[in-house]
Amino acid sequence: MKNQKPVVLLTRRWPEAVEAALAEKYTLIRNDADVPYSAAELAAALTQADAVCPTVTDALTADVFAAASKLGIRAKLLANFGVGYNHIDIASARANGLEITNTPGVLTAATAEIAMTLLLMCARRAGEGERLVRNGDWQGWHPTHMLSTQVTGKTLGIVGMGRIGIAMARQAHHGFGMRVVYSGRSRVAESVGLELGAEFLSLDELLATADFVSLHCPATPETRNLIDARALTLMRKDAVLINTARGDVVVEDDLVEALKNAEIAGAGLDVYAHEPSVPAELQALEQVVLLPHMGSGTRETREAMGLCAMANLQAYFAKQPLPNAIA
Ligand code: DGY
Repeated sequence: MKNQKPVVLLTRRWPEAVEAALAEKYTLIRNDADVPYSAAELAAALTQADAVCPTVTDALTADVFAAASKLGIRAKLLANFGVGYNHIDIASARANGLEITNTPGVLTAATAEIAMTLLLMCARRAGEGERLVRNGDWQGWHPTHMLSTQVTGKTLGIVGMGRIGIAMARQAHHGFGMRVVYSGRSRVAESVGLELGAEFLSLDELLATADFVSLHCPATPETRNLIDARALTLMRKDAVLINTARGDVVVEDDLVEALKNAEIAGAGLDVYAHEPSVPAELQALEQVVLLPHMGSGTRETREAMGLCAMANLQAYFAKQPLPNAIA
């Protein structure tokens, strides 16, 4: 009907200011319970709104699209709140006539900060130290107490030197004098390489070289299980693995074994293969720092992600080119 506002469905609650801005332009359907939708609820969502805005917690599988298709899909746009979209079966979405957008760029600094936080916490045993004090077990300073590893001057290996990888490399190189090596599908621009003194290596060379290996590649069929038992064996025994990318880039069982057998020194993880479940074996290991997928979780960034998704919605409903279409 003429002049009716488009219907936009948010599968989770968004920052208040963004929801308010959206509500002025669109008829907004919100998930007030703010718990992940089931497959059936996701299929229903696709039948209710002109645009659906999912997050990483929504498994939009081929089955979900098939179920929605039987009911009659109304949505034409999936405006994802987040840069990673491995939770969406892109081929099925497209086959059902949907366009897909994401929110790249706005979460670069925040995610690089969390990767650096994990690196520092692992190297300096900050998680262990904090638990010691909090548990009332600290017996006081002494010269050999909780010795850890200095970060300054060490080698950082970035796997996937995209926006976030480069941002972390900048923090590490300019802030901590770290040497940067990297691997991935493509090389950085010459100016970036020169600025960071960054050396391109094969993945195997990088794993054998770096004191800290930080994963920044997207989750794709090519990167699935990239860090498995073989890769972990190549890493140095005193090296630490940092993952702020996606859980399924790492074979969690192999990582547990490598840590238990002291094949690597530690791990800092923000993402897991089956979130929000975190293997009990990882939780039991002192040399592991575990965060709850909070890489982009600053107030500034989550608002920026919302506004970025909103820009995609606005362009779509104005029939303009989508700023962040997934190619
Ligand atoms: C992202 O944007 O990919 C974050 O991991 C949250 O989904």
